[in-house]
Amino acid sequence: MSGLQEALSRCAELVNSSLQAFFEPKLDSDLYRAAYHLLKAGGKRLRPFLAIQSCLAVGGSEKAALPGALAVELLHNFTLIHDDIMDRDLIRRGVPTVHAKWGIPMAILAGDLLFALSFEALSQAEGLVSSERLEKAYELLAQVAVEICEGQSLDMSFEGRLDVSEEEYLSMIEKKTAALFKTSTMLGALLGGGSQEQVEALASYGRSIGLAFQIKDDILGVISEEKVLGKPVGSDLREGKKTIVVIYALEHASSDDRKLLTKVLGSKQCSEEDLKKALEVLSTTGAIEYAYKQARRYVENGLKHLSSLPESRSRRILAELAEFMVTREK
Ligand code: IPE
Ligand code: IPE
Ligand code: MG
Ligand code: MG
Repeated sequence: MSGLQEALSRCAELVNSSLQAFFEPKLDSDLYRAAYHLLKAGGKRLRPFLAIQSCLAVGGSEKAALPGALAVELLHNFTLIHDDIMDRDLIRRGVPTVHAKWGIPMAILAGDLLFALSFEALSQAEGLVSSERLEKAYELLAQVAVEICEGQSLDMSFEGRLDVSEEEYLSMIEKKTAALFKTSTMLGALLGGGSQEQVEALASYGRSIGLAFQIKDDILGVISEEKVLGKPVGSDLREGKKTIVVIYALEHASSDDRKLLTKVLGSKQCSEEDLKKALEVLSTTGAIEYAYKQARRYVENGLKHLSSLPESRSRRILAELAEFMVTREK
Protein backbone atom coordinates (compact mmCIF):
# COMPACT_ATOMS: atom_id res chain seq x y z
CA MET A 1 0.00 0.00 0.00
CA SER A 2 1.27 3.50 -0.84
CA GLY A 3 1.86 6.11 1.87
CA LEU A 4 -1.28 7.89 0.75
CA GLN A 5 -3.48 4.79 0.77
CA GLU A 6 -2.21 3.82 4.20
CA ALA A 7 -2.87 7.31 5.59
CA LEU A 8 -6.34 7.35 3.99
CA SER A 9 -7.33 4.06 5.59
CA ARG A 10 -6.01 5.19 8.95
CA CYS A 11 -8.11 8.34 8.69
CA ALA A 12 -11.17 6.34 7.67
CA GLU A 13 -10.75 4.07 10.71
CA LEU A 14 -10.46 7.03 13.05
CA VAL A 15 -13.50 8.80 11.62
CA ASN A 16 -15.54 5.61 11.40
CA SER A 17 -14.96 4.66 15.00
CA SER A 18 -16.07 8.10 16.23
CA LEU A 19 -19.18 7.97 14.05
CA GLN A 20 -19.96 4.45 15.17
CA ALA A 21 -19.64 5.40 18.85
CA PHE A 22 -22.06 8.27 18.31
CA PHE A 23 -24.69 6.55 16.15
CA GLU A 24 -24.76 2.94 17.33
CA PRO A 25 -26.59 3.66 20.61
CA LYS A 26 -29.30 5.57 18.71
CA LEU A 27 -30.14 3.05 16.00
CA ASP A 28 -33.52 2.08 17.47
CA SER A 29 -34.80 5.25 15.75
CA ASP A 30 -35.65 5.44 12.02
CA LEU A 31 -34.26 8.97 11.85
CA TYR A 32 -30.83 7.94 13.16
CA ARG A 33 -30.78 4.78 11.00
CA ALA A 34 -31.50 6.95 7.94
CA ALA A 35 -28.87 9.51 8.95
CA TYR A 36 -26.21 6.84 9.58
CA HIS A 37 -27.03 4.78 6.47
CA LEU A 38 -24.61 6.42 3.99
CA LEU A 39 -21.99 7.18 6.63
CA LYS A 40 -21.88 3.48 7.46
CA ALA A 41 -21.71 2.50 3.79
CA GLY A 42 -18.24 4.03 3.52
CA GLY A 43 -16.93 6.74 1.25
CA LYS A 44 -13.38 7.92 0.75
CA ARG A 45 -13.38 10.32 3.74
CA LEU A 46 -11.38 12.82 1.70
CA ARG A 47 -12.61 15.89 3.55
CA PRO A 48 -11.74 14.67 7.06
CA PHE A 49 -8.44 13.49 5.60
CA LEU A 50 -7.73 17.00 4.32
CA ALA A 51 -8.55 18.44 7.73
CA ILE A 52 -6.27 16.00 9.54
CA GLN A 53 -3.33 16.27 7.14
CA SER A 54 -3.58 20.07 7.05
CA CYS A 55 -3.56 20.15 10.85
CA LEU A 56 -0.48 17.90 10.93
CA ALA A 57 1.20 19.95 8.19
CA VAL A 58 1.11 23.07 10.38
CA GLY A 59 2.41 21.20 13.42
CA GLY A 60 -0.92 20.29 15.04
CA SER A 61 -2.09 16.88 16.25
CA GLU A 62 -4.62 14.38 14.95
CA LYS A 63 -6.62 14.89 18.13
CA ALA A 64 -6.89 18.63 17.55
CA ALA A 65 -8.12 18.04 13.99
CA LEU A 66 -10.77 15.44 14.82
CA PRO A 67 -13.68 17.80 15.65
CA GLY A 68 -13.13 19.63 12.35
CA ALA A 69 -12.66 16.36 10.47
CA LEU A 70 -15.96 14.97 11.77
CA ALA A 71 -17.74 18.26 11.12
CA VAL A 72 -16.81 18.31 7.42
CA GLU A 73 -17.70 14.64 6.88
CA LEU A 74 -21.10 15.14 8.54
CA LEU A 75 -21.76 18.25 6.49
CA HIS A 76 -20.68 16.39 3.32
CA ASN A 77 -23.10 13.54 4.05
CA PHE A 78 -25.92 16.00 4.67
CA THR A 79 -25.31 17.44 1.19
CA LEU A 80 -25.15 13.96 -0.37
CA ILE A 81 -28.53 12.92 1.05
CA HIS A 82 -30.20 16.08 -0.26
CA ASP A 83 -28.24 15.93 -3.54
CA ASP A 84 -29.55 12.45 -4.29
CA ILE A 85 -33.10 13.70 -3.82
CA MET A 86 -32.43 16.63 -6.16
CA ASP A 87 -30.61 14.46 -8.73
CA ARG A 88 -33.13 11.62 -8.38
CA ASP A 89 -30.30 9.13 -7.89
CA LEU A 90 -31.06 5.79 -6.29
CA ILE A 91 -27.59 4.38 -5.64
CA ARG A 92 -24.62 5.84 -3.76
CA ARG A 93 -21.60 4.17 -2.15
CA GLY A 94 -23.00 0.97 -3.66
CA VAL A 95 -26.18 1.07 -1.53
CA PRO A 96 -29.68 2.50 -2.03
CA THR A 97 -29.78 6.24 -1.37
CA VAL A 98 -31.50 7.45 1.78
CA HIS A 99 -34.68 8.66 0.03
CA ALA A 100 -34.82 5.43 -1.99
CA LYS A 101 -34.94 3.49 1.28
CA TRP A 102 -36.85 5.77 3.66
CA GLY A 103 -38.71 8.17 1.33
CA ILE A 104 -38.10 11.85 0.68
CA PRO A 105 -39.53 13.35 3.92
CA MET A 106 -37.31 11.20 6.15
CA ALA A 107 -34.30 11.82 3.89
CA ILE A 108 -34.78 15.58 4.20
CA LEU A 109 -34.88 15.22 7.96
CA ALA A 110 -31.87 12.89 8.08
CA GLY A 111 -29.91 15.47 6.07
CA ASP A 112 -31.00 18.26 8.41
CA LEU A 113 -29.91 16.18 11.38
CA LEU A 114 -26.41 15.68 9.93
CA PHE A 115 -26.19 19.40 9.20
CA ALA A 116 -26.90 20.22 12.84
CA LEU A 117 -24.57 17.46 14.06
CA SER A 118 -21.68 18.90 12.05
CA PHE A 119 -21.77 22.01 14.26
CA GLU A 120 -22.09 19.87 17.34
CA ALA A 121 -19.03 17.88 16.25
CA LEU A 122 -17.02 21.06 15.85
CA SER A 123 -18.00 22.16 19.35
CA GLN A 124 -15.87 19.27 20.64
CA ALA A 125 -12.87 21.49 19.87
CA GLU A 126 -13.85 23.71 22.80
CA GLY A 127 -10.96 23.86 25.24
CA LEU A 128 -8.54 22.44 22.65
CA VAL A 129 -8.07 25.74 20.78
CA SER A 130 -8.46 29.43 21.56
CA SER A 131 -12.00 30.82 21.45
CA GLU A 132 -10.96 33.11 18.54
CA ARG A 133 -9.91 30.13 16.44
CA LEU A 134 -13.03 28.17 17.31
CA GLU A 135 -15.24 31.13 16.47
CA LYS A 136 -13.53 31.47 13.09
CA ALA A 137 -14.03 27.74 12.52
CA TYR A 138 -17.80 28.02 13.17
CA GLU A 139 -17.96 30.96 10.81
CA LEU A 140 -16.22 28.96 8.07
CA LEU A 141 -18.54 26.00 8.55
CA ALA A 142 -21.63 28.22 8.29
CA GLN A 143 -20.20 30.03 5.26
CA VAL A 144 -19.47 26.82 3.39
CA ALA A 145 -23.01 25.56 3.98
CA VAL A 146 -24.29 28.75 2.35
CA GLU A 147 -21.90 28.33 -0.59
CA ILE A 148 -22.91 24.71 -1.16
CA CYS A 149 -26.59 25.73 -1.29
CA GLU A 150 -25.72 28.44 -3.81
CA GLY A 151 -23.68 26.02 -5.90
CA GLN A 152 -26.36 23.35 -5.83
CA SER A 153 -28.95 25.90 -6.88
CA LEU A 154 -26.79 26.94 -9.86
CA ASP A 155 -26.24 23.27 -10.76
CA MET A 156 -30.01 22.75 -10.89
CA SER A 157 -30.71 25.94 -12.81
CA PHE A 158 -28.17 24.87 -15.48
CA GLU A 159 -30.22 21.72 -16.16
CA GLY A 160 -32.73 23.82 -18.08
CA ARG A 161 -30.14 25.57 -20.26
CA LEU A 162 -27.96 24.59 -23.24
CA ASP A 163 -25.82 27.74 -23.27
CA VAL A 164 -23.97 27.33 -19.96
CA SER A 165 -20.37 28.54 -20.34
CA GLU A 166 -17.28 26.89 -18.91
CA GLU A 167 -16.83 29.94 -16.71
CA GLU A 168 -20.31 29.50 -15.25
CA TYR A 169 -19.59 25.79 -14.70
CA LEU A 170 -16.38 26.64 -12.86
CA SER A 171 -18.07 29.10 -10.53
CA MET A 172 -20.80 26.52 -9.85
CA ILE A 173 -18.35 23.72 -8.92
CA GLU A 174 -16.28 26.15 -6.91
CA LYS A 175 -19.30 26.58 -4.66
CA LYS A 176 -20.85 23.13 -4.65
CA THR A 177 -17.59 21.18 -4.20
CA ALA A 178 -14.33 23.13 -4.02
CA ALA A 179 -15.60 25.28 -1.15
CA LEU A 180 -15.86 22.27 1.18
CA PHE A 181 -12.39 21.04 0.22
CA LYS A 182 -11.10 24.51 1.01
CA THR A 183 -12.97 24.65 4.31
CA SER A 184 -11.63 21.23 5.28
CA THR A 185 -8.01 22.31 4.89
CA MET A 186 -8.69 25.65 6.59
CA LEU A 187 -10.38 24.04 9.60
CA GLY A 188 -7.48 21.62 9.98
CA ALA A 189 -4.91 24.41 9.77
CA LEU A 190 -6.86 26.62 12.18
CA LEU A 191 -7.32 23.87 14.77
CA GLY A 192 -3.66 22.93 14.40
CA GLY A 193 -2.51 26.43 15.31
CA GLY A 194 -1.36 27.38 11.78
CA SER A 195 -0.33 30.94 10.95
CA GLN A 196 -2.52 33.15 8.78
CA GLU A 197 -0.19 32.48 5.80
CA GLN A 198 -0.36 28.72 6.34
CA VAL A 199 -4.16 28.77 6.58
CA GLU A 200 -4.31 30.76 3.34
CA ALA A 201 -1.86 28.51 1.49
CA LEU A 202 -3.84 25.43 2.49
CA ALA A 203 -7.09 27.17 1.55
CA SER A 204 -5.77 27.80 -1.98
CA TYR A 205 -4.48 24.23 -2.19
CA GLY A 206 -7.86 22.86 -1.05
CA ARG A 207 -9.79 25.00 -3.51
CA SER A 208 -7.61 23.98 -6.46
CA ILE A 209 -7.70 20.28 -5.80
CA GLY A 210 -11.44 20.54 -5.10
CA LEU A 211 -11.96 21.91 -8.62
CA ALA A 212 -9.82 19.09 -10.04
CA PHE A 213 -11.80 16.60 -7.96
CA GLN A 214 -15.18 17.72 -9.32
CA ILE A 215 -13.94 17.80 -12.93
CA LYS A 216 -12.68 14.23 -12.50
CA ASP A 217 -16.00 13.31 -10.88
CA ASP A 218 -17.81 14.60 -13.95
CA ILE A 219 -15.48 12.55 -16.19
CA LEU A 220 -16.03 9.39 -14.12
CA GLY A 221 -19.77 10.01 -14.34
CA VAL A 222 -19.60 9.33 -18.07
CA ILE A 223 -16.75 6.84 -18.49
CA SER A 224 -16.85 4.61 -15.41
CA GLU A 225 -19.12 1.75 -14.37
CA GLU A 226 -21.68 1.73 -11.60
CA LYS A 227 -20.09 -1.27 -9.89
CA VAL A 228 -16.75 0.56 -9.60
CA LEU A 229 -18.14 4.01 -8.86
CA GLY A 230 -20.92 2.93 -6.49
CA LYS A 231 -23.22 5.47 -8.16
CA PRO A 232 -25.01 5.54 -11.53
CA VAL A 233 -23.11 6.29 -14.74
CA GLY A 234 -24.81 8.40 -17.40
CA SER A 235 -27.31 9.87 -14.96
CA ASP A 236 -25.70 13.34 -15.34
CA LEU A 237 -26.69 13.26 -19.03
CA ARG A 238 -30.21 12.06 -18.32
CA GLU A 239 -30.59 14.85 -15.74
CA GLY A 240 -29.30 17.42 -18.24
CA LYS A 241 -26.28 18.34 -16.07
CA LYS A 242 -23.96 20.86 -17.67
CA THR A 243 -20.60 19.38 -16.79
CA ILE A 244 -17.37 20.61 -18.36
CA VAL A 245 -17.46 17.50 -20.56
CA VAL A 246 -20.96 18.25 -21.85
CA ILE A 247 -20.24 21.97 -22.32
CA TYR A 248 -17.13 21.25 -24.41
CA ALA A 249 -18.93 18.59 -26.46
CA LEU A 250 -21.90 20.88 -27.18
CA GLU A 251 -19.49 23.52 -28.42
CA HIS A 252 -17.36 21.19 -30.57
CA ALA A 253 -19.70 18.48 -31.88
CA SER A 254 -20.87 18.22 -35.49
CA SER A 255 -24.46 19.29 -35.94
CA ASP A 256 -25.73 15.67 -36.02
CA ASP A 257 -23.80 14.78 -32.90
CA ARG A 258 -25.03 17.91 -31.19
CA LYS A 259 -28.60 16.94 -32.04
CA LEU A 260 -28.09 13.51 -30.54
CA LEU A 261 -26.54 14.95 -27.41
CA THR A 262 -29.31 17.50 -26.88
CA LYS A 263 -31.90 14.75 -27.37
CA VAL A 264 -30.42 12.79 -24.47
CA LEU A 265 -29.69 15.77 -22.19
CA GLY A 266 -32.46 16.03 -19.63
CA SER A 267 -34.41 13.14 -21.14
CA LYS A 268 -35.13 10.79 -18.26
CA GLN A 269 -36.77 8.23 -20.55
CA CYS A 270 -34.10 8.15 -23.28
CA SER A 271 -33.19 4.69 -24.61
CA GLU A 272 -30.02 2.89 -23.53
CA GLU A 273 -28.92 2.99 -27.16
CA ASP A 274 -29.19 6.79 -27.44
CA LEU A 275 -27.44 7.19 -24.11
CA LYS A 276 -24.58 5.01 -25.35
CA LYS A 277 -24.30 7.04 -28.55
CA ALA A 278 -24.28 10.30 -26.59
CA LEU A 279 -21.51 8.95 -24.34
CA GLU A 280 -19.50 8.15 -27.49
CA VAL A 281 -19.93 11.72 -28.72
CA LEU A 282 -18.28 12.92 -25.52
CA SER A 283 -15.16 10.90 -26.41
CA THR A 284 -15.03 11.65 -30.13
CA THR A 285 -15.31 15.42 -29.66
CA GLY A 286 -12.25 15.29 -27.39
CA ALA A 287 -14.36 16.58 -24.49
CA ILE A 288 -13.07 14.00 -22.02
CA GLU A 289 -9.47 14.65 -22.93
CA TYR A 290 -10.06 18.39 -22.60
CA ALA A 291 -11.62 17.95 -19.14
CA TYR A 292 -8.63 15.87 -18.01
CA LYS A 293 -6.31 18.63 -19.13
CA GLN A 294 -8.19 21.20 -17.09
CA ALA A 295 -8.27 18.94 -14.02
CA ARG A 296 -4.50 18.43 -14.28
CA ARG A 297 -4.01 22.17 -14.49
CA TYR A 298 -5.79 22.58 -11.12
CA VAL A 299 -3.71 19.82 -9.58
CA GLU A 300 -0.50 21.60 -10.64
CA ASN A 301 -1.86 24.83 -9.23
CA GLY A 302 -2.73 23.14 -5.93
CA LEU A 303 0.78 21.70 -5.65
CA LYS A 304 2.31 25.17 -5.99
CA HIS A 305 0.51 26.35 -2.86
CA LEU A 306 2.05 23.56 -0.78
CA SER A 307 5.57 24.84 -1.36
CA SER A 308 5.27 27.55 1.31
CA LEU A 309 4.67 24.93 4.03
CA PRO A 310 7.57 23.34 5.92
CA GLU A 311 8.76 20.02 4.51
CA SER A 312 6.99 17.17 6.36
CA ARG A 313 5.35 13.77 5.86
CA SER A 314 1.90 15.44 5.76
CA ARG A 315 3.02 17.86 3.09
CA ARG A 316 4.21 14.91 0.99
CA ILE A 317 0.89 13.15 1.56
CA LEU A 318 -1.05 16.26 0.56
CA ALA A 319 1.01 16.40 -2.64
CA GLU A 320 0.20 12.75 -3.35
CA LEU A 321 -3.45 13.48 -2.63
CA ALA A 322 -3.46 16.27 -5.22
CA GLU A 323 -2.37 13.74 -7.89
CA PHE A 324 -4.97 11.27 -6.64
CA MET A 325 -7.71 13.78 -7.58
CA VAL A 326 -7.16 12.91 -11.25
CA THR A 327 -5.79 9.36 -11.03
CA ARG A 328 -8.61 8.02 -8.83
CA GLU A 329 -11.05 5.54 -10.31
CA LYS A 330 -13.87 6.13 -7.84
C1 IPE B 1 -19.19 12.98 -3.93
O1 IPE B 1 -18.03 13.16 -3.20
C2 IPE B 1 -19.83 14.29 -4.14
C3 IPE B 1 -19.06 15.21 -4.97
C4 IPE B 1 -18.64 16.35 -4.52
C5 IPE B 1 -18.79 14.86 -6.35
P1 IPE B 1 -17.04 11.96 -2.85
O2 IPE B 1 -16.63 11.26 -4.12
O3 IPE B 1 -15.94 12.48 -2.00
O4 IPE B 1 -17.97 10.99 -2.05
P2 IPE B 1 -17.61 9.87 -0.99
O5 IPE B 1 -17.64 10.55 0.33
O6 IPE B 1 -16.28 9.28 -1.30
O7 IPE B 1 -18.72 8.87 -1.14
C1 IPE C 1 -21.76 17.08 -5.79
O1 IPE C 1 -22.89 16.85 -6.45
C2 IPE C 1 -21.87 18.21 -4.80
C3 IPE C 1 -22.67 17.98 -3.61
C4 IPE C 1 -23.16 16.83 -3.25
C5 IPE C 1 -22.92 19.14 -2.79
P1 IPE C 1 -22.98 15.88 -7.71
O2 IPE C 1 -24.42 15.65 -7.93
O3 IPE C 1 -22.17 16.41 -8.82
O4 IPE C 1 -22.25 14.57 -7.18
P2 IPE C 1 -22.64 13.05 -7.28
O5 IPE C 1 -22.21 12.59 -8.64
O6 IPE C 1 -24.11 12.92 -7.07
O7 IPE C 1 -21.82 12.39 -6.21
MG1 MG D 1 -25.93 17.13 -7.84
MG1 MG E 1 -25.63 14.05 -7.57
